[in-house]
Formats: sequence, C-alpha cells, structure tokens
Amino acid sequence: MAFLASVINVGVVGCGYWGPNWVRNLSGLPGCRLKSVCDADPARLSHMRSLYPSVETHSDFEEFLADRSLDAIVVATGARQHHKMGKASLLSGRHTCIEKPMATSSADSEELTRIAREKGLVLMAGHTFLYSPVVRHIKEIVDSGDLGEIRYISARRLNLGIFQRDINVAWDLAPHDLSIILHLMGEQPLSVNCQGSANVFPGNHDITSMWLEFPQNRSAMVQSSWLDPRKTREMTIVGSRKMIVYDDLPNQDKVRIYDARVDGPRHYDSFAEFHYAYHYGDVVTPYIEQDEPLKLEAQHFLDCIRRGVEPLTNGDHSSQIVRILEAATQSLEQRGASISLKAPAPLPRGKGRRAAASGNRPQPVQSPA
Ligand SMILES: NC(=O)c1ccc[n+]([C@@H]2O[C@H](COP(=O)([O-])OP(=O)(O)OC[C@H]3O[C@@H](n4cnc5c(N)ncnc54)[C@H](O)[C@@H]3O)[C@@H](O)[C@H]2O)c1
Repeated sequence: MAFLASVINVGVVGCGYWGPNWVRNLSGLPGCRLKSVCDADPARLSHMRSLYPSVETHSDFEEFLADRSLDAIVVATGARQHHKMGKASLLSGRHTCIEKPMATSSADSEELTRIAREKGLVLMAGHTFLYSPVVRHIKEIVDSGDLGEIRYISARRLNLGIFQRDINVAWDLAPHDLSIILHLMGEQPLSVNCQGSANVFPGNHDITSMWLEFPQNRSAMVQSSWLDPRKTREMTIVGSRKMIVYDDLPNQDKVRIYDARVDGPRHYDSFAEFHYAYHYGDVVTPYIEQDEPLKLEAQHFLDCIRRGVEPLTNGDHSSQIVRILEAATQSLEQRGASISLKAPAPLPRGKGRRAAASGNRPQPVQSPA
C-alpha cells in the first residue's frame, strides 16, 4: 500500500442531501483534511463553498479524480452512479467509501470488492447503522446469549418520501435493516420472498415487504415504505428467552429489553393437557451513550486506511446486501416467489490486507486535541 502521510486527504463526490453530512464529519476529524468536493449541480457547489470556503470544488468527476493528492474518496451520489464512480476511484488507487447500496447488481459489487483486494485498498460501504452505539449495544446483548436463540427479527422503516426514480423503496431503505439483520444473525439467509406495489410512479415499487429465511427455522421480515404518514424506524428482535424492541426515533430510550417469552409444552397426550407457558418479567431500558453514527463510521474509514485492515462494512458485507436486494427484485417480478440465495465462492483476500471485518470494531472517536 502507498505511503500515507499523517494527514489523510479526502474528497467527497455528491453533495445533495446526504453528502454534506460526510463533509461536516470529515472536516471535524483529527488527522483528516477535507480537500475537495464534487457535484454536478452548481447550486450545491456554491452552498458547499459558503459553508467551507477553504475546500476545493469541482463540477466534473474526472477533474476531481485527477487531483493526485487525494488519498481517499467518499461516493455519495445516487445508487446508479456508485459502481462507475467507485470503480474509477479504486482504479486510480484511492481508498473508497461508497454509500449504500454499494452497487445495483451483485456482479458490480463483487467486482468492486475484487479490485479493492487486488490493489490493497480499503473499500467500505455506508451501512451507517452498524456504527451506531445503539446497534453495537444490541449486538453485544445478542452475542452474550441473554436473549437466548434469535427466533426472528422484524423491521419497519416507513415515511412519506423521499421518492427516488431510479431505484425502488427496497433498494433505498431496506439496506439499513438488512445490514443490521445480517450483523445480528451472524449468517446469510437461505432465501427471500418480496411483495410490494407501485402506487405513485408506475413500475417503481414504493412499498415492499420482504421475508427472509435463515438456517434453523430463523426468519426476518423487512417492511419498507415511502408512502406512510408516520415516520417509523422500528426493529423487534425475538429471542427464545427475551425480546428487544429498538425504536430509533426518540433521542433517548431507544432500546427496551423485555423479559418475555412463550414456551409450548414439550410433550402432551391430549388436547386438554396442551397449553402455552407465557412468561412476563421486567422491561429494562439500558443507558446507551450516544454519538453520531456517521462520525464513528467516518473515523472507522480513516482508522482502517491507517491500520491496513478491512472495515466492518467491507465489500463482502455490502455484496451480501446487494445479492438479497437483487433476489428480492426478482421475487417482486414473480409476485413474491421464493428466490434462493446461494452463497458465492469467497473472494481471495489480497495484498496483505488483514481479514478483520468481524473483529475490527469501530473505536470511539477521539476528540481533536
Ligand atoms: N447511510 C445513510 O444513512 C444514508 C442516508 C441517506 C442517503 N444515503 C445514500 O447517500 C446517497 C446519496 O443520497 P442523497 O439522498 O444525498 O441523494 P441526492 O440526490 O440528494 O444527492 C446526490 C448528489 O449527487 C450529485 N451527482 C449526481 N451525479 C453526479 C455526477 N456525475 N457528478 C457529480 N455529482 C453528481 C447530484 O447533483 C446530487 O447533488 C444514496 O446512495 C443514498 O442511498 C445514505
């Protein structure tokens, strides 16, 4: 890997709704210099210049990429641009973070993963929730065994808009839930079914409902909508011993752990003997110190570049999500048919980059001295 000076020069392409959040976080992190931004829309560039007068601005991606002093690039344009821009960034030797979904086909996301490994570069996708202190806390509870075995996870991510024209609502909203579900389940699903409807723009589904089957009779469902009056960000994780309800909307008390379960009798000879055993115990709301997930994610990107390790949300994690979305689209076209998800052959890891995705936990961000 190329020698890196102590300060990492980063550029951000795409300064619409989400890109400016990257710009804000990167510009405040120690050891990082936000060198330049790029957007095809002059109004967005002028807005960025008014906020960050010392940052260089480019309207042309090729011109932005031609600046040899950039060590790393964040791609925060729309999904259809991700593969083309991410590939150009990697081929030009830059560590690259691409917003979710990393690509719009599994072939494209696997190609990006392969190029990054061959070149010994960090490739990360913007699955921001895995950097959230709340999701990290839930993962610790799940891994501790306190919930028992996970039986199923249900997720609901609903709001009014923001409508996209080039991808459906599953590609827009479900990556967040799929990323969390894969992280908590610790394995890939066997199959996916997806149903939905296009209510506003013909042919573009604005509500979808996905059903994922995991080994050992475990399952998950993911409901996504751009057509709901109430913003909802909820996930329920049902274990054999306890259950968690995670509501991401309130500022505090996002997680509630229910000491609740139901057991069926193991053996019974007659209907009269058949009964369920319900258990209701305490509801606990753990204190979780908050920090901005995107700040932790940006810091993790820089840490991985410095340490030469793969991020938590590396090419493999992101490709798994793209594969599920691709199969879900196939299922939508076949009116909810079950599509099996075959795990692809593992991609070789290249050029001494350590395989640290699962154990490489994001560290709390250090404040600038
Ligand atoms: N991780 C998260 O929590 C999160 C949240 C919101 C959005 N996102 C993702 O961020 C990405 C951007 O979403 P958004 O809502 O900001 O979209 P947006 O449409 O508001 O912004 C995209 C920007 O890219 C610019 N652009 C498009 N093509 C360009 C090109 N060829 N050269 C230069 N600039 C170009 C557009 O002018 C626009 O300003 C999406 O992939 C989205 O899924 C992630």
